[in-house]
Amino acid sequence: MAVADQAQRLRDLVRDDAARTEADAKTQAPTAARPVRSQAPSPTPPRPAAAPRSRQGNESAPAEVRPKAHVIAVASGKGGVGKTNVAVNLAVALAQLRKKVALVDVDMGLANADVICGVKAPYNLAHLIGPQKRKLREIAVDAPGGFKLIPGANGISDMADLPAPMLERLISHLTQIESQCDFVILDTSAGINSAVIAFAGMADTVLVVTTPEPTAVTDAYGLVKSVLKRTPLANLYLLVNQVESELQGKEVHQRIAMVARRFLQREVGFAGSIPLDRSVGASVIRRVPFCLAFPNGRASLAVGHLGAALVRRTARADELTGPSRAGFFAGLGRWFAAARRPAAT
Ligand SMILES: Nc1ncnc2c1ncn2[C@@H]1O[C@H](COP(=O)(O)OP(=O)(O)OP(=O)(O)O)[C@@H](O)[C@H]1O
Ligand SMILES: [Mg+2]
Repeated sequence: MAVADQAQRLRDLVRDDAARTEADAKTQAPTAARPVRSQAPSPTPPRPAAAPRSRQGNESAPAEVRPKAHVIAVASGKGGVGKTNVAVNLAVALAQLRKKVALVDVDMGLANADVICGVKAPYNLAHLIGPQKRKLREIAVDAPGGFKLIPGANGISDMADLPAPMLERLISHLTQIESQCDFVILDTSAGINSAVIAFAGMADTVLVVTTPEPTAVTDAYGLVKSVLKRTPLANLYLLVNQVESELQGKEVHQRIAMVARRFLQREVGFAGSIPLDRSVGASVIRRVPFCLAFPNGRASLAVGHLGAALVRRTARADELTGPSRAGFFAGLGRWFAAARRPAAT
């Protein structure tokens, strides 16, 4: 079926929103039908467990010792759906679970995780690769809540477009993080560009953030489709932000999951939902992550549940797959290098 037909189908489904019943939803999306205890249930995995990174696309898998970090890419189709707030507060939630966490702001166009964290960041990723040649430990800042923030550089349109020596330098610095952390969270830029497709394809877990708005939902599906086209085994989970009810989040997931199943023959897991909560905006104004400013707020509780679910799931995945796998950033470097290499004739 043509792409336009798929998009139309999704739009039709979005329009059908009001008419849908929970019973319909349950029969159409078995992966999301299990009862949930909270706004952010244990993610419903597209597969039983995270696959080792050696699965990635067309990359050759070197026998590297696995850096221990589990890499979570936070992405979206439409901008402004809450990625940075999710990334920052998930970092806080995981740190509160005694995990070592680094948040790398890879939104090279409009990096602003430092603003939401309320930290002063004298240096950023640009200083790693620029003439200043700063070290990673010089640019990393201690963020409130107990995680390391690697501030992003503004104005680099696409990491994939960096000159090869700069990219190599960047990658070699970022590789250090993996051995030092349990979780590395990537706050990516909105939309579908080559860097986001690479991050999502290489990450252990991708949280595709959307709101219930039809435009955000169609754009989220567009991202899902682009990532799966490049990396059919990508670990994609939908996280529905700013929901009015838990049911609304489930329905949004079911719509996307159903279309992905039908047209892409792939599963998209459900990472849960985060309520529309005024404390989020209030905490952004205060420049304090909402999990710290309003720890008992509805959004904070939902992100706390998501963090706990991710910890449980990664522990299970490590039990199943063992501790060895290729490093994320090293793989990313190879991905970008392969993309640059002219195709063999
Ligand atoms: N659960 C929520 N409830 C209420 N407001 C929210 C919620 N999540 C995010 N917001 C609001 O949405 C706005 C955008 O959030 P954020 O900057 O995290 O989005 P983003 O996806 O990172 O944007 P960009 O695509 O520009 O990087 C913020 O003003 C924030 O206050
Ligand atoms: Mg953002």
